[in-house]
Amino acid sequence: MGESRMGRLPAGFRRLDMGARREALRSAFVLSDDEWTGISCAPELHELLDVMVESAVGCIPLPLGIANGFLIDGEQLAIPMAVEEPSVITAASFAAMLAREDGGFQTWASEPLMTAQVFLEGVTAQGEKALSECGGELRQALAAPLASLSQRGGGYKEFRTARLPSGVVRVDLVIDARDAMGANRLNTAAESVRPLLERVSGGRSLMAILTNAASQRLAGARFSVPVDRLAYGLPAGMTGQEAARRIAAASVVAQEDPERAVTHNKGIMNGIASLAQATMNDTRAVEAAAHLWAARDGRYKGLSRYSTDGLALSGEIELPIALACVGGSVDLHPAGRASLRILGNPDARRLSRIAAALGLAQNFAAVLALVTHGIQKGHMKYHAARLAYLAGARGPEARLLAKELASAGTLDLASAQALLEGLRDRRRE
Ligand code: MEV
Repeated sequence: MGESRMGRLPAGFRRLDMGARREALRSAFVLSDDEWTGISCAPELHELLDVMVESAVGCIPLPLGIANGFLIDGEQLAIPMAVEEPSVITAASFAAMLAREDGGFQTWASEPLMTAQVFLEGVTAQGEKALSECGGELRQALAAPLASLSQRGGGYKEFRTARLPSGVVRVDLVIDARDAMGANRLNTAAESVRPLLERVSGGRSLMAILTNAASQRLAGARFSVPVDRLAYGLPAGMTGQEAARRIAAASVVAQEDPERAVTHNKGIMNGIASLAQATMNDTRAVEAAAHLWAARDGRYKGLSRYSTDGLALSGEIELPIALACVGGSVDLHPAGRASLRILGNPDARRLSRIAAALGLAQNFAAVLALVTHGIQKGHMKYHAARLAYLAGARGPEARLLAKELASAGTLDLASAQALLEGLRDRRRE
């Protein structure tokens, strides 16, 4: 077999079966045993991975953790989260614990409306008028490609047109995607009506695709906690009332300063994207929609807001969350199905409401830490544990080393290795 011009892999790599592809990869790049283990997964999954993506060679076993103790609309929930960042799940569980005693999170979601866009060039004013009058024909043409959605109570809702500054005319097809994210159905539907739209408008179709903006598929959450509850573990001299005031002030900063807002929102997405990942949803779509929403009035802002009356702190969030519980990889991959089962098999709207609550919880915990002890205090123990692992310690030795490292306060690999040697020397004596 010849060498591929693209790299060190054999030509025709993508046409090999998965086992042969894996072997070719291993020998071409001389992967170490632990690197090999790191990208390996149960052989029973190989066939599935092969239908999920082309040229599959394994999988990345991202940690899956559970944020426990959530109370959302009166229901107790354990939320699966797939994420590589150490403090995220603890932070979510901590916020859930603070919110729980006062009713937890209350949530809401709109209907799961998604929009497909068809872009047309060369449309005259007359053509645009004809387009705006083609609703009946469009509905009829969309009946077949959207039949299965209609049977489930979703399907085509309405359309609108707009002319862009370039002169291109955009036709928006608003479709209720029910429990699906909608990408496949909407793209098929939009492509199928291109000839009709060209004939009616006299223009030519440039492209047809759904928009990930999902700006009509919103989910929101709110909670409220008495300020006294925040007093738990605050820096000496800081009251719960002051912590609440600071959280509200920080949320105003996130409205005012886009550079802070993007980090504030990153904290929110720590929760939402981790749940999206655990349920095998499209995390990039959810992220892209959130950031567009954050900038919807022309300036990028924080997605959550907090206020306090001196007695309680209230937090609220609303954003597009297009999470599915069927279709795509969600119910194809057993990990997605497992996560949905842990959540009690919610429908798509319920899943997006859980995601909104989780995003708000994540943000609340982060901002509370930021305006009180600072974020690093809580992160040290995770950093120490990772350094101990990197230094080669495992099991009880790793836990001891992490403890020593954290109390020594020198968090670098050289110190971890030196401490580990010292520890082992002491044991030998
Ligand atoms: C880190 O992953 C997330 C935070 O930076 C969020 C924030 O600053 O609000 C802590």
